Amino acid sequence: MKTITVVGMGYIGLPTAITLARGGFDVCGFDVNTAVLDSLRAGKLHIVEPGLQEALTETIESGRLTFSDTCPTSDAYIICVPTPFSVENGKRRADLKYVDSAAATVGRAIKPGALVILESTVPPRTTERMAKVLEESSGLSRDQFHTAHCPERIIPGQMLRELRENDFFLLPLQEISEVGLQVLRGETTLTPFGSEPLRLRHDDCLLVNGTPALHFFHC
Ligand SMILES: NC(=O)c1ccc[n+]([C@@H]2O[C@H](COP(=O)([O-])OP(=O)(O)OC[C@H]3O[C@@H](n4cnc5c(N)ncnc54)[C@H](O)[C@@H]3O)[C@@H](O)[C@H]2O)c1
Repeated sequence: MKTITVVGMGYIGLPTAITLARGGFDVCGFDVNTAVLDSLRAGKLHIVEPGLQEALTETIESGRLTFSDTCPTSDAYIICVPTPFSVENGKRRADLKYVDSAAATVGRAIKPGALVILESTVPPRTTERMAKVLEESSGLSRDQFHTAHCPERIIPGQMLRELRENDFFLLPLQEISEVGLQVLRGETTLTPFGSEPLRLRHDDCLLVNGTPALHFFHC
């Protein structure tokens, strides 16, 4: 079984982690907020989302979802940390400090072959920026790990259904999409969509309903 670490146990990361665990992956929910982790370990939700409490209980009892304040070594990582706006000279800019910090932490944990997916809402070229941080903190070269952007589109109030029914689009930074996907394929009960490997060289092309885009998984 492939292991996945979801970074950031908030409104997006927690339902994502629970859905992946329900799909048969071994999932670690990593967060820097120990109060959030303590609550989740006790089986208590800190966010409001229909059906999520039952799903949390089920996945904790199954043993497939654990929580940690230390980022473990995993086959894949999904980064779901905040990207608030800051204002500079009257212009709104995405504050990427949480993405940078999360990438640096993940970089210290990854081994060659890992896949790191950026799920936070980010401006163009942030996946490239994340890859540079990963390279610096891991000591690995860019051809030793895989990166991709998978923009989140689930709607609060319907997250569990949307996580099951929506198609996810994985936009790889390098020309390695098929290799990267193999990390998440394999021994899973999720039904992967077959897809042609992409030949994108530019990251963050948010083409949600069109091509080029790669169906990530559908569970
Ligand atoms: N909430 C939504 O409805 C929604 C919808 C679409 C996209 N998004 C995007 O998804 C991303 C996550 O949003 P959210 O609403 O889940 O945020 P959130 O504030 O609910 O949760 C973020 C979590 O990340 C943790 N965190 C922060 N820095 C960290 C680090 N360096 N390492 C580990 N954990 C860290 C925080 O402690 C927090 O628990 C944002 O980019 C947001 O714009 C959110």
